[in-house]
Amino acid sequence: MSDLTNFIATNADWFYLAGAILFVLTLRGLSSPKTAIRGNRLGMVAMAIAVITTFFLAEGPIMWMIIGAMVLGAAVGIWKSKTVAMTQMPETVALMHSLVGLAAVAIALATVLHSDQEYNTVTRLELFIGCFIGAITFSASVFAFGKLAAKSWAKTVNGGWVKPVQALLFIAMLGFGAVYFITDSLTAFYVMTVLAIAFGWMWIAPIGGGDMPVVVSLLNSFSGWAAAGIGFTLGNSMLIIAGSLVGSSGAILSYIMCKAMNRSLINVLFGGMGSAAVAGGADDGAPKNYKSGSAEDAGFLMSNASDVIIVPGYGMAQGRAQNAVKELYELLKEEGVNVRFAIHPVAGRMPGHMNVLLAEADVPYDDILEMDEINSDFPSTDVVLVIGANDVVNPSAKDDPTSPIFGMPILEVTKAQTVMVIKRSMSTGYAGLDNSLFYMDKTMMIFGDAKKMVEEMVRSINGGGH
Ligand code: TAP
Repeated sequence: MSDLTNFIATNADWFYLAGAILFVLTLRGLSSPKTAIRGNRLGMVAMAIAVITTFFLAEGPIMWMIIGAMVLGAAVGIWKSKTVAMTQMPETVALMHSLVGLAAVAIALATVLHSDQEYNTVTRLELFIGCFIGAITFSASVFAFGKLAAKSWAKTVNGGWVKPVQALLFIAMLGFGAVYFITDSLTAFYVMTVLAIAFGWMWIAPIGGGDMPVVVSLLNSFSGWAAAGIGFTLGNSMLIIAGSLVGSSGAILSYIMCKAMNRSLINVLFGGMGSAAVAGGADDGAPKNYKSGSAEDAGFLMSNASDVIIVPGYGMAQGRAQNAVKELYELLKEEGVNVRFAIHPVAGRMPGHMNVLLAEADVPYDDILEMDEINSDFPSTDVVLVIGANDVVNPSAKDDPTSPIFGMPILEVTKAQTVMVIKRSMSTGYAGLDNSLFYMDKTMMIFGDAKKMVEEMVRSINGGGH
């Protein structure tokens, strides 16, 4: 046993290097649905190497604490993975980020508390940065969780007082951090931590629900930097590398999402679209006409088309319609229809939401196309079936300069010959905007729950005898 401990301890850097390389390969694997499972497995191996190596570096009694924490963590993790619904993933991810932030704070506090010597300035700076990033990540993630889960304590706050309070908290936090840095005062460190927690909360509280995905992705990035900061404190190269990977990939994802919504990160974080429903651009309030049809009509139209594009959105996730959609896809294929899926980068409520659902339903990846790959195909498409998507197909993003989402790239479904939209009512989507697509001559609304409507379409095509 001690030989093994010795071997691992003396070669820890090599094990960590292997883990780091596997983490890089994990990210590479996760970049495509085809290689995502392999990527996930590599990540599990990398994490196992990291944990086991660290485990063997620990000393005597601490080992049992590590085992206890691991058993507890694994039990909660397994329970969560079995019980969480796909629609609850965004808030679950936010909650997990909060734990990374909390871990960073706990490690920083433990390090500060158990020091029997004065830390040098570099270590104090690492502790200060790691702790405040961790604290902000913790409280901001808890708030993001509350908002995404629609908890009553996570209401968006507005008002002229918000920005001055934010600024005050931030400056005070830096001030106490500086006092700790200069004087090594523990009290200053504690006050700085509390202020960072308060700042994280106040920072996220005014941000609207529509911007939460970017916030969650940014918090993901923060949690990575917090881990990297603590890695420096603990002298753990694995933590530094893994933290940096999470930090930079989260930052890149935030940038991609901002681009997909035509927003800047600064605009998302310090102003812009609130959570309150923003009225659509040029809406004179007059009643508008729309056409509605049945699932049978839709089934008939699609089975007689040669090209069909399915545009899934949040409603497909909400209605858990993905398996019915796969059935519809297969049936149309059997009928000789060219069916493909068009995925908007922010369709649903988290990055890759639609891809995950369609992969879960075993839809072949080759027929799932990203917005940039498929947008030019809409003019030659007979029928577009929009399933519970709204904002990502809203033409005002292109045509109406007064619209809050003007400039956001959209799936240009209006260029197809016929558009059919499954949703339960005429109500708005996440951005709270009316959608002129629903009132166009070429559009047919099919009112009902996504799963039920798609199942009815399948039945009607099956019974249609084409
Ligand atoms: P949304 O604009 O939110 O529209 C979804 C539509 O689905 C709603 O209009 C709703 O209409 C309908 N719906 C809900 N449940 C349904 C059900 N069971 N059956 C049928 N229809 C149902 O969705 P989207 O087009 O996917 O756009 C996503 C929006 O969320 C964007 O504004 C995006 O910025 C934002 N957002 C994105 C993310 C990421 S990263 N993907 C995260 C958070 C927010 P009814 O109520 O009338 O049925």
